[in-house]
Amino acid sequence: MQVISTVAELRQRLRGKTGIAFVPTMGNLHEGHLDLVRIARQHGACVVVSIFVNPLQFGANEDFSKYPRTLAQDCEKLEQCGVDVVFTPTERELYPQPQQVMVEPLLADELCGAFRPGHFRGVATVVLKLFNIVQPQAAVFGKKDYQQLYVVRQVAAQLNLPVEIIGGETVRAPDGLALSSRNQYLSAAGRTEATFLYQTLTSTRQAMLNGVTDYAKLERRAVEALTARGWQVDYVAVRAQATLLQPENGARDLVILAAARLGNTRLIDNLEVCLKG
Ligand code: PAJ
Repeated sequence: MQVISTVAELRQRLRGKTGIAFVPTMGNLHEGHLDLVRIARQHGACVVVSIFVNPLQFGANEDFSKYPRTLAQDCEKLEQCGVDVVFTPTERELYPQPQQVMVEPLLADELCGAFRPGHFRGVATVVLKLFNIVQPQAAVFGKKDYQQLYVVRQVAAQLNLPVEIIGGETVRAPDGLALSSRNQYLSAAGRTEATFLYQTLTSTRQAMLNGVTDYAKLERRAVEALTARGWQVDYVAVRAQATLLQPENGARDLVILAAARLGNTRLIDNLEVCLKG
């Protein structure tokens, strides 16, 4: 496995290569990331993983400076997973000039975008730059960040990028909490409480499977249940999987998306719901 930090060296290493499968990350890798790497190995002969904490996608009051950076441990894990190349650019390398947002994704100001202004423009921009540098045939993103996966798919389609976007299932702790680098910000009590976000999604899904169709009411109920336990809820929303818009009457492929804060820690999660016809 090679660790490369400049664009020029990476281009040299990948010159003439076909079948590149790519997993972009911000590091501090856990099983969720490593699962995407395993999926990538099934989609390409050469697996490239990037580690870059992207300032463009963090708001002024967010956790950019305290985001956990654990490069040595990350590289060890990636080596064990059989990764070929790890790309670890510096900020200067990836943004040699003051970086402008390059794309305007759909729904950029909806759901998480409503609470993180500029976030998805920053994500889409860095992902586009990384695609241009790595030139993968396939790239793998987690369903854990459902709206991000949607944004990436949509931008790739809008720009006719020659890359297949693959979604990996969310990897969870035994109590259901979705693995996330941000879980380590939680106190011990917070970590115990955190599973309630998943439980709320699960019971909402069960109600939908039982035939409840008043989704607005289910959303309100979920918000109330979380709020009553001390969560500050950004949103709970039932949307159509394909568009992330409000589902039309009778729509069957749905997803429940939620974002809520426990103290200073913002957690997101989602569950797909496929209703029978
Ligand atoms: P990061 O949060 O490091 O996540 C990298 C990839 O891992 C994303 O595709 C994310 O959805 C996926 N992932 C995170 N937790 C997961 C879990 N529990 N199960 C499955 N997949 C999981 O997402 C980003 O970085 C950045 O926004 C990035 C795309 C790298 C652009 O900067």
